[in-house]
Amino acid sequence: MELQHIAIIMDGNGRWAKRRGLSRAEGHRAGSRAAQRITRAGRRLGLPCLTLYALSTENLLRPAEELAALGKLLRHYLDTEVPSLIEHGIRLRVIGNRNLLAADLNRKIVAAEKQTAAGRDMTLGLALGYGGRDEIVRAAQALARRGRLRRVTEPSLASALDTAGLPDPDLLIRTGGERRLSNFLLWQSAYTELYFSRVLWPDFAARHLQAALRDYRQRERRFGRTDASLAPATGPVRPQGKFK
Ligand code: IPE
Ligand code: IPE
Ligand code: MG
Repeated sequence: MELQHIAIIMDGNGRWAKRRGLSRAEGHRAGSRAAQRITRAGRRLGLPCLTLYALSTENLLRPAEELAALGKLLRHYLDTEVPSLIEHGIRLRVIGNRNLLAADLNRKIVAAEKQTAAGRDMTLGLALGYGGRDEIVRAAQALARRGRLRRVTEPSLASALDTAGLPDPDLLIRTGGERRLSNFLLWQSAYTELYFSRVLWPDFAARHLQAALRDYRQRERRFGRTDASLAPATGPVRPQGKFK
């Protein structure tokens, strides 16, 4: 499959719950089932990399009760999902600011990443305590610590990001009807195709993912060039000469 990486902003859990007279925690529980469903669907489609936005840096400002429910769900996910990830050849890779997460959650993350490290069929990225701006700042700080900030290049900065080694997303899907990035993969999505779905995340199913893929396949990715100057269309490239 020519497409390497799909990133998803899983939005709409709260509204899904509200429509049913349920608590927001119930919405997140249904959202976590959708995440498992879409992970399996991505794996079946032969997708090399899928990254799910589960918790943003800004989400940490939500009420304590909701954060507690999200923490409980995440811990349950990490405690129970590993055997299924291993069975399906899926490697888990958590991105985000570990300093924002509780120590026991970090231990579970490290353990799950270690246990799934041999997975070769798909990388599942999970963004937790993740913010694109925070990630770029942490990358710059890391380069500065290593004395490499004075000769920074696009590849050196990219290799200091949480996503080092992963391809940039080809397609970014946001469910729930909003049309914004909400601080997700700001650097990596420079030339990503965006797809907005009105479906609330807990209702998002394999057929919706397939609809997004069909839409993606109709698009022409030009990376700033014209169709005549395009080939080979592998991604953005730096110009050779100066603009005159
Ligand atoms: C997305 O659903 C999940 C997280 C941000 C953790 P929301 O909780 O944002 O759901 P809405 O947007 O309120 O419906
Ligand atoms: C984005 O959704 C974050 C996640 C899905 C994890 P939000 O619901 O937090 O985004 P805003 O507040 O509508 O921009
Ligand atoms: Mg939301």
